[in-house]
Amino acid sequence: MRFTEGFTMCGIVGYIGKSSSLQLLVDGLKRLEYRGYDSAGIAFQNGKGVEVYKIKGKLKDLQQILPDPSPAFSVGLGHTRWATHGAPSTVNAHPHRAEGITVVHNGIIENYREIRAHLEADGHHFLSETDTEVVPHLISKYLKEGLPIRKAIRSAVRQLKGTYALGILSDGDPNTLFTVRKGSPLVIGIGSEAFYFASDIPAILPYTRRFLYLDDEQICTIEDSNLDIRDLESDAVISYEGKTVEIDWTPDLAEKCGHDYFMHKEIFEQPQALRATIGERLNDPLGFVTDLRIYLQRRSDVQKLHIVSCGTSYHAALIGKYMIERIARVPVTVDISSEYRYRNPIIENGTLFVAITQSGETADTLAAQREAERRGARTLSICNVVGSTSTREANVVLYTRSGPEIGVASTKTFTSQMAALCLLALGMAIGKNCLNRQEAETLQEQFRELPDLMEKTLSMDAQIRTLAGSLMEAKDFLYLARGINYPLALEGALKLKEISYIHAEGYPAGEMKHGPIALIDKGLPVVVIAPSNDLFDKVFSNIEEVKARGGRVIAVTDAPDVLKGKADDIVPVPSTHPLFTPFINVIPLQLLAYHIGVLRNCDVDQPRNLAKSVTVE
Ligand code: AGP
Repeated sequence: MRFTEGFTMCGIVGYIGKSSSLQLLVDGLKRLEYRGYDSAGIAFQNGKGVEVYKIKGKLKDLQQILPDPSPAFSVGLGHTRWATHGAPSTVNAHPHRAEGITVVHNGIIENYREIRAHLEADGHHFLSETDTEVVPHLISKYLKEGLPIRKAIRSAVRQLKGTYALGILSDGDPNTLFTVRKGSPLVIGIGSEAFYFASDIPAILPYTRRFLYLDDEQICTIEDSNLDIRDLESDAVISYEGKTVEIDWTPDLAEKCGHDYFMHKEIFEQPQALRATIGERLNDPLGFVTDLRIYLQRRSDVQKLHIVSCGTSYHAALIGKYMIERIARVPVTVDISSEYRYRNPIIENGTLFVAITQSGETADTLAAQREAERRGARTLSICNVVGSTSTREANVVLYTRSGPEIGVASTKTFTSQMAALCLLALGMAIGKNCLNRQEAETLQEQFRELPDLMEKTLSMDAQIRTLAGSLMEAKDFLYLARGINYPLALEGALKLKEISYIHAEGYPAGEMKHGPIALIDKGLPVVVIAPSNDLFDKVFSNIEEVKARGGRVIAVTDAPDVLKGKADDIVPVPSTHPLFTPFINVIPLQLLAYHIGVLRNCDVDQPRNLAKSVTVE
């Protein structure tokens, strides 16, 4: 297996308290395994020093070699890995240890080679191929030079270039847990008798609801139930008064609740996620947007939007463009983050930069957001994770309220992102008098009905599973749609690729005859999204073009009778306002990808080569 440098995605967890850390660390890592799962390890203070257990393979393999829990093991940390530097192996697994210092790390240390060369010249002996191993060696070097532990950690970490969330144990400080962060996500959990840290909330949610996000370049020392946070550079104490957040997610929200996979559970959570994301905001979309505008009053009103994101969030952005331009008549450009950050974007006065990112940690989107801010744009983050980096750096935040999304493939956050964009469009349209009262109320009413219509569509699950059975051997798929549903053709194809590893392409149906029609031959599955709107006739003729070349048409439509005899397979869905059809039409696409993936025995929650949020470029 070839590993691409620079793609990092691990999960770290830590505990300091009165009871044994072992089971807690294992359970925490279980909830982090969707982040990376090619090797795992745990380390804990045993009263006489630090014990380390690590292995190549999944967490269940690690559990085989762990000792029985003991209350003595009350300070510990764990790691589940996504290999970047050094192939998955036991020696490359974390924790890494050097002369009394034990470290777990999520991120990439870009200058590790130079540091390693210096340390090897100083006689340090390295065991692994990882970038991370330089950290315990550096800290031990400063300890040997007589620096106290926290200063030794600071001196070491300040030499690192790149991104890191670190968990550190020191043999000499058995009742202390250290954690440091820059660029990689890290949250601290504050319990009644214990402290925790983790790469994200679900890992430690069963133990506390009170969380604190460590900011970039901060070091946290937890000792004798005291939390000490300091600036890495100045060592100044940073108060976290008023900075903790209460997360009202229930632990089982993070568990599967009877579904075989998190992805299936999260597809079925969409109506509830939408109700939560709409919430009170739909009662006064203008009021909600005015908050934004009030914030923006310091400059001219919103003249233009730059919406920037990656993957599924990018597809939500494309749908947002249709909505905002259609009803609010504000020009919108949509870019993929990794392109936007390097294309020297033109930021005019009144430009609102909108980052869409469910995790709030996607490196390319963060970089684009910083670039836009550097060029003078106001920034809005549409995000699903409270307190994540994008939200902390943006001028304004609009949270989707989907709850934790564990499945690597985004589903409920996609529809919640569309809802957030729709609220923005509605508020701006009303604010700019682009909609009269009647029109606004009609839209608000139909928008409020969407969760019920989505529930109705979810009842197609069994039928779509049967359909999937007849399609699971296909080698290629084509997805076609027009107008506001065109981005759904992209999303449907992405879901199938991610989950079943079948090649698939999404195309604007009108573009088919300019090339992809050459792909169509006998039996090629062509999924066509055909809502009964002003483009239906156009889509109908595209279906005929596909049929004429022997393609197998699977139509997602609210006009099944019209397509009877034309399409080979029909997935009937409820009708709704033309602007809202993507909320309904995406569900059969998600379920089709899910069932084909399951029937092909793919790990649909942890697809190969993918990570839930890509935290480096
Ligand atoms: C989608 O299923 C994938 N998980 C991926 O394309 C994702 O949408 C992309 O990485 C963006 O993530 P973000 O929304 O957390 O920024």
